Amino acid sequence: MQPKSLLKTLSLSPGNDTNAWRIFHDAEAGVWVDHFDGRWLVQTRAERFPDYLKSMAQGVARSIYWRPRDKSAATAPEHVWGEIVTERFPVKENGASFWIDFGSGYSSGIFLDQRLNRRRVGKSAGAGETVLNTFAYTGGFSVMAARSGATTTTADLSKTYLDWTWDNFTLNGLEPDDHFGVKGDAIEWLKTFGRQGRRFNGVVLDPPTFSRKKKGTFSTDKDYASLAGIAAAIVEEKGWILACANTHRLSPAQFQSDVVSGVKQAGRSVISCERLPMPPEFHGDEYLKSLWVVVQ
Ligand SMILES: C[S@@+](CC[C@H](N)C(=O)[O-])C[C@H]1O[C@@H](n2cnc3c(N)ncnc32)[C@H](O)[C@@H]1O
Repeated sequence: MQPKSLLKTLSLSPGNDTNAWRIFHDAEAGVWVDHFDGRWLVQTRAERFPDYLKSMAQGVARSIYWRPRDKSAATAPEHVWGEIVTERFPVKENGASFWIDFGSGYSSGIFLDQRLNRRRVGKSAGAGETVLNTFAYTGGFSVMAARSGATTTTADLSKTYLDWTWDNFTLNGLEPDDHFGVKGDAIEWLKTFGRQGRRFNGVVLDPPTFSRKKKGTFSTDKDYASLAGIAAAIVEEKGWILACANTHRLSPAQFQSDVVSGVKQAGRSVISCERLPMPPEFHGDEYLKSLWVVVQ
């Protein structure tokens, strides 16, 4: 019998300037497929690879790699079909390029659900402006802002990800020495920049759901208002904050209320607060909440 999932279709490429997107998504069956320029990275809820994907991949993909979702983040995906990927490779998104590495554990280089947010940052940043990207991972938002002429500061706990960020800059013809990177707890860096009187035209906040910080812990459902407040204190007048939360525990309304109250507690007013959608192929569960907040 044909599996129910086969009745679902693959999502089309989002455009000529993008060759990485979520090509297949069946939350009910627990199957998620990300397409990285023809290399499929399959994640499943079950411990078994769904074999029907091999027939779906014919003529569309050149290789399939697979990892059960609850395997330790450090587990590299297993080769299942097609060409073997031994090295990192570049993909295109919104015209920018990013290195993908299937061997890197955690994630493979970019979170595809942030595509529209990266585009928004690229469109909003401009020459002569400054953008601070916190919890930056491989610096996707920094690359987009820098391609638009902004001077960026990228903050992450991990040196590996900061180095990956600079590799992404170079891949895009951007000079890393024209930009700044800071390693360590992003919340401490936000406070330090506040004490130093530094101001940014835009700040990206995309923390993990839970993180150990220098002093204690951070969780998106309890601590976002305070994070938004610390960020608001260092945003220029009419500057923006992109606030993201990847959690089921916060409703969109609660998240918006936390962010807006955090900004107000910092003594700033909110000119506008827009809810940004996930890319259309991430249909169904709106787990990623994103707000574009313009601050007075
Ligand atoms: C959800 S990912 C961010 C994704 C990224 N914004 C993007 O769109 O590609 C979380 C990142 O936060 C970093 N991180 C976790 N806790 C941190 C902390 N306290 N300070 C700075 N970075 C942290 C991790 O190393 C990881 O790169």
